[in-house]
Amino acid sequence: MIIALIIIIAYLLGSIPSGLVVGKAGYGIDIREHGSGNLGGTNAFRTLGVKAGLIVTLSDILKGTAAASVPLWFGSEFHPLLAGIFAVVGHMFPVFAKFKGGKAVATSGGVLLFYAPVLFITMLAFFFILLLLTKYVSLSSMLSGVYAVVFSVVLGDVWLIAITCVMTFFVIYRHRANISRIRNGTEPKVRFGKKAV
Ligand code: G3P
Repeated sequence: MIIALIIIIAYLLGSIPSGLVVGKAGYGIDIREHGSGNLGGTNAFRTLGVKAGLIVTLSDILKGTAAASVPLWFGSEFHPLLAGIFAVVGHMFPVFAKFKGGKAVATSGGVLLFYAPVLFITMLAFFFILLLLTKYVSLSSMLSGVYAVVFSVVLGDVWLIAITCVMTFFVIYRHRANISRIRNGTEPKVRFGKKAV
């Protein structure tokens, strides 16, 4: 019973469509109709600007962090990473936004922030280095997922290895269109200091 409640709460937390709420409430814009059409922080940056992009990204991270903490609320031994993965599923398929959500990046990061903060912080640094080098948010996101798996293997934490593998699979699978665009040279690059990414 408690486990079902934990899963439902985690899924509902992940389902909160930050990009939709910020876009519609703050700007009267549905970001799913603009840019990449994705309901994530990158498309909020692209479509609404830096402030909205930051708010959406941070909110999406916090959803994952909060969801991973849900077992604690009930004093349950249900694994926080497992609770977190239900938030990631909620983020990708949000019940509050017709199941059309984001690409699993920020919410997965938030789950890792809760359980393995050193992994999260070094992964963030790795992400920004890649972003500076490649200018592709999508590629940097996918490779950061690979970094998380390698880091977990080095740590030897079986739960972390399993969950980062699942997260990275989700991230890469959800970036199928980005991968095609990178291959044919049409994926937008970040232009630092400019509005569009
Ligand atoms: O977190 C999503 C990012 O990696 C790509 O977003 O909007 O460029 O498809 P987008």
